[in-house]
Amino acid sequence: MSNRRPVLVCVAWPYASSDIHQGNVTGSYLPADIYARYHRLLGNNVLMVSGSDSHGTPVTVRADAEGKSPEALFTYYHDRFLELFQKLGLSYDLFTHTDTINHHRVSQDIFLALLNNGYLYRKVTAQMYSPTGDRFLPDRYVEGTCPNCGYPRARGDQCDNCNTLFESASELIDPRSQLDDSALELRDTEHFFLDLPRLAEHGLKEWIQQDKEHWRPQVINFARNLILNEGLQGRAVTRDMDWGIPVPVPGFEHKVLYVWFEAVIGYLSATIEWASNNGTPEAWKEWWYRDDARTIYFIGKDNIPFHAVIWPAQLLGIGRLYETDENKQLNLPYDVPANEFMNMEGRKISGSHNWGVWMLDALQRHDPDPLRYYLTVTMPETRDSDWSWHGYVERNNNELVANWGNLVNRVLNMMNRYFGGVVPEPAALGEKDRALLAAIDAGFDEIGALYDAARFRAAAQETMALATKVNQYLEETSPWKTANEDREATACSLYTALQAINGLKVLFAPILPFTSERLHQMLGLEGQLFGHQLVREFSEDGRKHRALVYDASAAKGEWLRSEIRPGCKLPKPSPLFRKLEESVAEEELARLVRPVA
Ligand code: MF3
Ligand code: ZN
Repeated sequence: MSNRRPVLVCVAWPYASSDIHQGNVTGSYLPADIYARYHRLLGNNVLMVSGSDSHGTPVTVRADAEGKSPEALFTYYHDRFLELFQKLGLSYDLFTHTDTINHHRVSQDIFLALLNNGYLYRKVTAQMYSPTGDRFLPDRYVEGTCPNCGYPRARGDQCDNCNTLFESASELIDPRSQLDDSALELRDTEHFFLDLPRLAEHGLKEWIQQDKEHWRPQVINFARNLILNEGLQGRAVTRDMDWGIPVPVPGFEHKVLYVWFEAVIGYLSATIEWASNNGTPEAWKEWWYRDDARTIYFIGKDNIPFHAVIWPAQLLGIGRLYETDENKQLNLPYDVPANEFMNMEGRKISGSHNWGVWMLDALQRHDPDPLRYYLTVTMPETRDSDWSWHGYVERNNNELVANWGNLVNRVLNMMNRYFGGVVPEPAALGEKDRALLAAIDAGFDEIGALYDAARFRAAAQETMALATKVNQYLEETSPWKTANEDREATACSLYTALQAINGLKVLFAPILPFTSERLHQMLGLEGQLFGHQLVREFSEDGRKHRALVYDASAAKGEWLRSEIRPGCKLPKPSPLFRKLEESVAEEELARLVRPVA
C-alpha cells in the first residue's frame, strides 16, 4: 500500500440528548478537526470518525422528561449535530451514530471475542429494583437521602448538595424511584464484568509503561496511577435496561451492553462502516493493523479513564477481531490529548441555566472562522479556560481583522492599484525580502511541529506572530511610498508580501479553513485546499440513517508555501473578516439571561 502514514483521528461521541456548546467544541471536536486538517495538508492518510452516542441514561432520562421515545430524541439531536458540524467545518470522514446495525454487530462481536478470550466473567450483584415498574433502575433514576449530609433529594450516582459520589445507589437512605416516587428494593441480578486485573497483566501494564513522552502529563499520570498504583478492578459491562445493544448471550437478551463499553467501540465500527460505504470493506485495517498508523483520541478530561485505560484494555483483549484478519493486535492509542474544561464569563457552562454558547444558534450570527479562532486561542490545553464575549470581540478585531485580515487587504488592494491586479516580476530579491520568506518557510517546520503535538494555542499564536512580521515588513518597505518613483522596489515588496501571505494561508488553514479557502481563490490559485462535507443517507437492510461524510476529491492543498508566478491575474479581493462592535458582546451577554428558543 501507500507510504502515506495512516492517521486515525478519533473524536468523542456526543450524547444525542442536548445541544452542543462551545465547551464541547473546544474540548474535543475542534482540536480533532485542526489535527486532521493539518495531517490532510501534509498528505497523510487521514480518517476522522465519530458519531452520536445514542444509548445510555443521559438519553433515556432526557427522553422521559420530554415524553419522547429515546429514538425520537436521539434522531432530533443527531440531525442538529450534522448541521452544526457541517457549518462549523468539522471534517469528519464519517459522523455516524451508535444505533446502526453495523455498530450493534461490531459491538456484539467484540463482546463475544472478549468472552472467548476469557476476559469477561459473570457475577451476581444486588441492584435497585422497582416493584411498581417491574424493572431494575439505573442509579441515575434513583433518589434518596444522602448518607453524608442528609440532603433528601440526592441522586443515585451523586449528591448535588455535598458532591459525594456513590459507588451504588444502594448507599442512599430510603431509596425511591425518580419516575414515580415509589420505594425501591435491592434484588439480585447477573452481569458480565470486564476482567481488568487480568488484562493489566496481559499487556496493559506493559503498554502504559512504554515511552509516552509525547502524552500530556495529566493524562499519562492519571492512567499510570490507576493501572500501576491503585490497581484495577473488574467492571460491569452490561446493564438492566431496554434501550441499547442486546447482550449476545442466551438468557441475557433482555439486558444491554453498558453504554461506555460500546460507545468506544464506535471508533472501530465507524471505520468499518466508512470502509463498506466506500465499497472497500477491508480498508479499515490500514488504521487498525499497520505498525506505522497513528490512532489519536480527542476528548475532554472527564473521558480520560475510558480512553486511556479501559478502551486500551478492551483492544488488548479483543486480539484478532475477525478470522480473516492478519493474526495481529489492534493498534493501541498513540495519544490521548485530553483537554481540561472551558468556563464562560467565570462560571461553569450549564444547559439548565442556559449558560453557554449554543453553537448552532451562535452560527446564525457569527462566521465559523472567528468562532474557531477564538476557541483555538482559548483552548483549555493545560488548564481550565474561560470564554468571554468581550474577549471574542477583542481578539476578532485585533488579531483577525487588524492584523491578518488587514495584511491581506493591503497587499491585494495595492496589487490592484499599482499593477492592475497582475503579479509583477520582481527584480532580484534583497536580503530583507529573502529573510521574510525564509521566516515563513521556517514556520512550516516550527508551526507544523506544534500542530503535530496538538499544541494548537501556540500554533495560532506563532502564525499570528508571523502575520505581524509581514505587516512590519510592509511598513519598512512602504510600497505605497515608492509606488511613483521606484516601481522596482514596489514590485519587489508586494511580490514578497504576496508570497508570504500565500504561506500564511496554509499555516492558518487548519484553524481557519473557510477564510483560507477564500484567500486561496483570491490569490487566483486552482483547486481547493480541502474537500467538503455533506450529509448523506445510508441504508442498512432497508433501515435508513443519516451521516456526515467528507468528500476529499477536490482537495489539492499541501503543507508548503508555493510560488504565485509573475503574470498571474488576481481576482477582485474582498475582506476576509468583519470588525465587530463592542455592542455585539453586550447583546450576546443579554441573550444569556433569556432561555434560547
Ligand atoms: N458520550 C460521552 C460524553 O459525552 C462520550 C463518549 S466518547 C466515547 O461524555 F468514545 F465513549 F464514545
Ligand atoms: Zn450529600
